[in-house]
Amino acid sequence: MEMFTVSRANARGRRCGALRVLGIDAGTRSGRRRRLACMPVFAGYQPSALSLPPPDDLDVTMADQKHAEGIARLYSDREEVATAEANAWTQRTLGRMSERGCVVVATTDARVVGYGVADWLDPDAAPDGFYLLGVVVDPEFQRRGIAHVLTERRLDWLRERTDRVFYFANASNRATIDLHRTFGFRQLNHITSIAGVTFDGGKGILYEAGLPPRS
Ligand SMILES: CC(C)(COP(=O)(O)OP(=O)(O)OC[C@H]1O[C@@H](n2cnc3c(N)ncnc32)[C@H](O)[C@@H]1OP(=O)(O)O)[C@@H](O)C(=O)NCCC(=O)NCCS
Repeated sequence: MEMFTVSRANARGRRCGALRVLGIDAGTRSGRRRRLACMPVFAGYQPSALSLPPPDDLDVTMADQKHAEGIARLYSDREEVATAEANAWTQRTLGRMSERGCVVVATTDARVVGYGVADWLDPDAAPDGFYLLGVVVDPEFQRRGIAHVLTERRLDWLRERTDRVFYFANASNRATIDLHRTFGFRQLNHITSIAGVTFDGGKGILYEAGLPPRS
């Protein structure tokens, strides 16, 4: 299988469980650039923060080439990688869109402000199946329900293909864990790695949700 994900130790030496396409190996990290204001790997956990409504013109749709630059910008900001590496990741990811994978993108005012990936994985130590992977929202637009919609759209896409779905998270990433909880994900077990991804602090969690057809 061409695996979709692989871990990285980011520029601060952490392993974060962020997602990259295999084939961009550690050697390319020499091209990594430091940013003055990069996106935090995980959003700060603020369960009581007030959320705002989504932008009026928010559009959430399947990604295509016109979104590639915006997706690459978000990827580059979060991963602290050079534009060329982010572009390569984006092209590989869009290239995998098929019956087995999708990339959903959120735009407002013609700007890409979020994306989410779903793909089929057959990891060694976890169930084969469809997984939600890598949902990222521009920090300027966080807490406006955008990841919720990106997740809803991916689940709708998956609903036509499966009746259960998995995802995994770094145990420290409580924002994403809360986000997915609202979709009925239940914890299966703790993991230290999956499909080439290892987790900062060594602690990851695998989740599963049933996906009944819409009535
Ligand atoms: C996690 C992430 C995608 C959430 O995006 P978002 O658009 O801000 O999320 P939403 O506004 O749709 O939030 C939906 C729910 O998720 C939970 N949530 C989202 N961000 C949260 C935070 N910072 N703290 C606590 N809960 C949070 C809340 O339950 C929220 O509902 P509420 O706003 O009604 O309380 C975003 O913070 C992000 O891009 N983080 C960095 C990348 C990342 O960690 N991705 C996941 C692993 S790849």
